[in-house]
Amino acid sequence: MEFTKKDILDMESLSVDEIALILNTAKRMKEVSERPVKKVPTLRGKTVVLFFYEPSTRTRISFDIAAKRLSADSLSISGSSSSMVKGETLTDTVRNLEAMSPDVIVLRHSSAGAPHMLARLVKPSIINAGDGMHAHPTQSLLDLMTVMENKGSINGLRIAIIGDISHSRVARSNIVGFTKMGAKVVLAGPLTMIPKGIEALGASVADNADDAVCGADVIMMLRIQKERQKSNLFPTEREYSKVYGLTKKRVKRAGSDVLIMHPGPVNRGVEIAPEVADGPYSIILDQVTNGVAIRMAILYLITSVSDSRRHAEC
Ligand code: CP
Repeated sequence: MEFTKKDILDMESLSVDEIALILNTAKRMKEVSERPVKKVPTLRGKTVVLFFYEPSTRTRISFDIAAKRLSADSLSISGSSSSMVKGETLTDTVRNLEAMSPDVIVLRHSSAGAPHMLARLVKPSIINAGDGMHAHPTQSLLDLMTVMENKGSINGLRIAIIGDISHSRVARSNIVGFTKMGAKVVLAGPLTMIPKGIEALGASVADNADDAVCGADVIMMLRIQKERQKSNLFPTEREYSKVYGLTKKRVKRAGSDVLIMHPGPVNRGVEIAPEVADGPYSIILDQVTNGVAIRMAILYLITSVSDSRRHAEC
């Protein structure tokens, strides 16, 4: 199939076939990163702007590495180093970036919907690198790739996602991504961190963490996103860790070949015990490795879409 999307904004707008195409392309891209010379000329002459209005380690660096491995020119600006600190709006900033003819703008922003708004306004492709509590599609794609590599298929798997679901764009994108590919997603966390109506995305909510991990093929732990919480949603970190943290004892309730995942950054000893994060079932660093391959695949696919075939989101 041909890829025709102008932008990558969320998992809802990707079809199962498009997801499969991205995962297959990423598999081929991963091979480039395993060569002694990790560079191909595929995107020579293309320009990728990384505009991160929120902090990032994994997403920003992996997009930068991905662009460079494909020979694109990539450059990075942050909110604090841009003229937004002088009062320029996001729209004006991105219109000014557009005037310098980049092919792709990778945007991370604290406001949900910011990439969607810009995608309708400007010609370069917009890739959502995380918008507020809404979506983080490239994280979901790299998570799908990592599970696929380890399990062969996603269809029929039981995926437990545990923690601060309310404030997690990773949880939202993964509920949509994993259910689209045929998995059963079970959520757990304090009631104050489970949004009402989340089942509408296709997940079910377990009564507690032990029930969620029971028989799970994959357990994904989430950080408590204090930076997005407006009030205290749990008594103490110690209590949270006891009730919801992933310990070796809790892992034993899962399948014997369970995969332990975390999108990072990890708060060791809070949502996950260090010996579990570093233990034999953990594929946390494989997720990071696959982040480069997925972002190479996406940059390749969206820059290959000719103007005549481009479909912007309506
Ligand atoms: N997973 C993730 O988005 O990590 P960063 O915030 O470091 O990019």
